[in-house]
Amino acid sequence: MNIDILLGLQWGDEGKGKIVDSLCPVYDVIARFQGGPNAGHSLEFNNVKHVLHLIPSGIFHADKLNIIGNGVVIDPAVFKKEIEELGPPVSELIKRLIISNKANLILPSHRILDAAYEMSKGSSRIGSTLKGIGPSYTDKTSRNGLRVGDIMKEDFRQRYNDHIINHLTILKNYDFKFDLKEYEKGWFEGIEMLKKFPIRNTEYLVNELSVKGKKILAEGAQGTMLDMDFGSYPFVTSSNTISSGACTGLGISPKLIGDIFGIFKAYCTRVGCGPFPTELFDETGANLRNIGHEFGATTGRPRRCGWLDLPAMKYAIMINGITKLFMTKADVMSGFKTIKVCTSYNIDGKICTELPFNNDGMIEPVFTELEGWKENINDKREYNELPVALKNYIEFVEQQTGVPITMVSVGPDRKETIFRN
Ligand code: GDP
Ligand code: IMO
Ligand code: MG
Repeated sequence: MNIDILLGLQWGDEGKGKIVDSLCPVYDVIARFQGGPNAGHSLEFNNVKHVLHLIPSGIFHADKLNIIGNGVVIDPAVFKKEIEELGPPVSELIKRLIISNKANLILPSHRILDAAYEMSKGSSRIGSTLKGIGPSYTDKTSRNGLRVGDIMKEDFRQRYNDHIINHLTILKNYDFKFDLKEYEKGWFEGIEMLKKFPIRNTEYLVNELSVKGKKILAEGAQGTMLDMDFGSYPFVTSSNTISSGACTGLGISPKLIGDIFGIFKAYCTRVGCGPFPTELFDETGANLRNIGHEFGATTGRPRRCGWLDLPAMKYAIMINGITKLFMTKADVMSGFKTIKVCTSYNIDGKICTELPFNNDGMIEPVFTELEGWKENINDKREYNELPVALKNYIEFVEQQTGVPITMVSVGPDRKETIFRN
């Protein structure tokens, strides 16, 4: 059981990139298993911030192997740009990054379809990142997709053209202007970049490495509340962001899974549309956004901010089988006089702790109020150095969820991390 999973318990942006990077010293392999360029995983070291979209967050460690698994959808144009911005030359990166031949491609027309669908939804739009995620996964599940392994085939260009013709036929139904040529050039340049990297049936590789005793960390994208089945449907992404997604997205048996780390912010954020029971529309919400720099790493959109939502978090812990919790961004709340935590919902006068099926009704959060702390905590490196009120907050969440919080992040830098046994 040497494959661990790290995934988000909220609506994404919990700090997965930073934590995966911090955990790298204990792993040999970092593998992405779902999502695509809708993800934006930030990590910081030596005073430089990097944002990764498709590439696993272990890429800055020269001795680690990174795998983009079959469950990921890849836009070659985004891939090329990301590779070029990383720093190390391609000749070096090809030793650190392997791509599944079964990962589906995001075509230029998928991005256009994404935008056309969103526009046609009007006020019920999802708030998608418009990276073509939904249309690409739709083609995958309807068995029409093109995969990374196909780029080596002689008839690839013909198959690409056939897909474009199909997509253009669909787009005739939408009053939506677009310029396919604008995307295509960069896309084909991206295909050439993809060809430089090892493309393999990575399911064999991951299982072989596991048999050899290598430590593997599966890095989730998005968060549990954006999961296609268990998130706030239809305001979700188009993949399974939960722990079982790691099995299908890498080709591994559940028997191989060891720890399942659930990462959460000490408060909540959501970018895009959909229900968010604890959302704050007041000054406190604005403070969380400004102090926490809560602006999307992929789209730059302001993130909606609110208090921690325990019913949602307990649900996420249950669905994923979380063994350990990691808490990020408590430092953002330093100086807050009081901190609220939602412990149940009031739905039409009934108190409940289960997430309702319908998203459209009024969910009123029931809060417990805890004392805040004044001290800045960015320079703390030991759990015992943390303010008593923060430790009380941490222990309250542990007691409510029944899962230990074994890591507390106190800033965006790799070093600003407290591990707790
Ligand atoms: P991801 O998608 O889960 O990897 O998270 P994002 O990178 O989209 O968003 C998290 C943001 O918070 C990034 O800007 C990180 O640099 C930053 N961050 C991560 N952990 C902490 C923390 O403990 N404190 C603070 N202040 N920032 C953090
Ligand atoms: P990381 O990995 C936060 C949100 C979008 C939108 C919905 C569907 O950085 O945590 P999509 O582009 O998948 O069609 O968008 O999901 N979303 C994210 N929100 N973090 C992400 O990724 C997200 N990826 C998608 O804002 O509401
Ligand atoms: Mg993000």
